This record gives sequence, structure tokens and C-alpha cells, in this order.
Amino acid sequence: MSYIANESRYNLMQYRRCGRSGIRLPMLSLGLWHNFGGVDVFENSRAMLRRAFDLGITHFDLANNYGPPPGSAEESFGVVMEKDFRPYRDEMIISTKAGYYMWPGPYGEWGSRKYLVASLDQSLKRMKLDYVDIFYSHRPDPDTPLEETMMALDHIVRQGKALYVGISNYSAEQTEKAVKILNELGTPCLIHQARYSMLDRWVEDDLLDVLEKKGVGLIAFSPLAQGLLTNKYLQGIPEGSRASKEHGFLRPQHITDDKINKVRQLNELAQQRGQTLAQMALAWLLKDERVTSVLIGTSRVEQIDDCVKALDNLVFSKEELDQIEKILK
Ligand SMILES: NC(=O)c1ccc[n+]([C@@H]2O[C@H](COP(=O)([O-])OP(=O)(O)OC[C@H]3O[C@@H](n4cnc5c(N)ncnc54)[C@H](OP(=O)(O)O)[C@@H]3O)[C@@H](O)[C@H]2O)c1
Repeated sequence: MSYIANESRYNLMQYRRCGRSGIRLPMLSLGLWHNFGGVDVFENSRAMLRRAFDLGITHFDLANNYGPPPGSAEESFGVVMEKDFRPYRDEMIISTKAGYYMWPGPYGEWGSRKYLVASLDQSLKRMKLDYVDIFYSHRPDPDTPLEETMMALDHIVRQGKALYVGISNYSAEQTEKAVKILNELGTPCLIHQARYSMLDRWVEDDLLDVLEKKGVGLIAFSPLAQGLLTNKYLQGIPEGSRASKEHGFLRPQHITDDKINKVRQLNELAQQRGQTLAQMALAWLLKDERVTSVLIGTSRVEQIDDCVKALDNLVFSKEELDQIEKILK
């Protein structure tokens, strides 16, 4: 059956301006790091992409190496693009990245112009796209001059292969420098993609302030700490969960008693608010207007439905915020 998108999709989602740019992103975006690779069931991945778009999630985030095997998430997305999404291409913000290991030899990872340009060409072929909306430098490269990496991003935009550029995993100090170079080149930095959740708050030290000052958006990845900020690990590691999978990035040793103790208390608080813990964890990030979007990963359609309902209650009382701080300490 050919796919026809839900007509009410834009009434179901809220959108936030990304920094001081002209782009608005859905407050919830979908990432394809896990659950969309060659090892996963394609029809499940396809169903999640359709469901997300039907709920007004217009932003899909990929990277060259997502899979496994690396590249296969982009390939799966390319198939969905061909089968379902082509008529809606102009309604979507599709991002990809390069930075981590992708192919052997000296040009297959990090931040050289050679690698970034070649990698994006490969990504476009896999995704069956002429251009991406956002192209990221996936991680800072200690050995390549920052100027070279930023000039490669600027070049890619001028080639018409990306509309905007972003950086990911850059420290606050590296971000200030990168943003300055990009501004001088005439290709402003749209967005920073950083890990941010109740269990990992490094961006609060100074990155969020830098981004606000410079007018750059922030998209928070792993907002559920890869599934830890849900009730699923309260009674051990369930079958089929990320921590149970050989290729899952969340390993059983990351699920410590200390974290589970916090998660249990957070789960109780979420229940008192009438939310699932996943919903409360997402709402807690979005209460800060500097967070443009939270970038979730899901393994099932129902998880997308559950996460989107977080937007129904983004308000926290002073008591709730204090209680959360106490739990997280
Ligand atoms: N720039 C970077 O370096 C970088 C790094 C990591 C991620 N990212 C991006 O961020 C995206 C999201 O990262 P992530 O997958 O770690 O995000 P996450 O949302 O923190 O974790 C996703 C996992 O949480 C569980 N989950 C999601 N919604 C749920 C719900 N409503 N109820 C119960 N469980 C739920 C699922 O676990 P189960 O699989 O166990 O069901 C899912 O696989 C990635 O796809 C990628 O696009 C970027």
C-alpha cells in the first residue's frame, strides 16, 4: 500500500526555532543510530519512520556509520525515501554526519576536508538524496586544523549538498572557535548536537550559554540515556532491550545500582505527575527553551507515541524541580 501521510500531522507537534536561524525543528526528532540497521527488521524501521512523520516529526537524524553494519541505516532510510517519503521531501529536515571511522586508510575518519566531502557523497547515494538539510562534523579532530574542517562544511553548503551545517560533541571552547570561523566564512552554524539527559548534564556547565549567546540551536541526543531513563531496567535487563543486544551501545555494566536507585525514584515522581518516566525525562529537557529539540531513538512504534505525549506537560513546579535535583545529586 502506498503511504499517504496523516493530514493532521502538523496539529500534533510543536516546533521550536533553532537558535537565531529561519528553521523550526519539531520538539521531538527521531534518530536512526540503533534499530534501523541491516541487522534490524526493515518493516519495523519503516513503520517507525512513517509513524513519526504522521505525528509531525519532520526531522530525521542519521550518520554515515549508523547500522550495524555501518552505512545500513542510511540505506534503509533511502529505501523508505523511495517507497514512502519522496513526495514529502520538502517537508523534512534530514541530517547526516561524518567524523567516526567509516573506511580504512588515512581518509576514512576524523575531520579532514577529504574525508568529509567523500563521506557526504557516499551518504547521499545511500539515502537516495540530492542534498541533506544539515551536515555535521560528528566529532572534533585534534589533529586537523579547525579551519580545515569548517572550510569543508562551508564548501559542502556552497556545493549545494547541504543546506545548513552543525557540529557535534564539541566542547564549549571548541564550539566558540568553530562558530566564529563559520560566521567568517558566511555559513553560520545552525545547531550543536550534544548528549544531554538527566543523567548526563555536562552541557549545563557552559555549552548552553555559549550556544544562546551565538544564536546556535541545541539538539539533545540520548535524552533517555539510551533507555535507562524509562522503567524498563527496574527489574533487570529485559529480552530485546538495547542492553540485551550484542551490538547495543548500552552495556549491562552501565546499568549500575546507583543509577537504578535514581531511576526508581524518578519513576515514582513521574507517576505522580501522570507521566511515564520517558515523558518526564524529555519534558525536563524541553523546559529549557534553549533546547531546540530532543533526539530520541526508538525500537517500536508505541515508544514514539509514548514520547510524543511528553509535550502535553512541560511544566514543572518548584517542588518537583527541587525533588529531581535531590534525586540526581
Ligand atoms: N552525535 C552523536 O555523537 C550521537 C550519539 C548518540 C546518539 N545520537 C543521535 O541521537 C539519537 C538518539 O539516541 P539514543 O537512541 O541513545 O536515544 P534515547 O532516546 O536516549 O534512547 C533510545 C532507547 O530508549 C528506549 N526508549 C525510547 N523511547 C521509549 C519509551 N517511550 N519507553 C520505553 N523505552 C523507550 C528504547 O530502548 P530499547 O531499544 O531498549 O527498547 C530506545 O532504543 C540517535 O539515534 C542518533 O541520531 C547522536
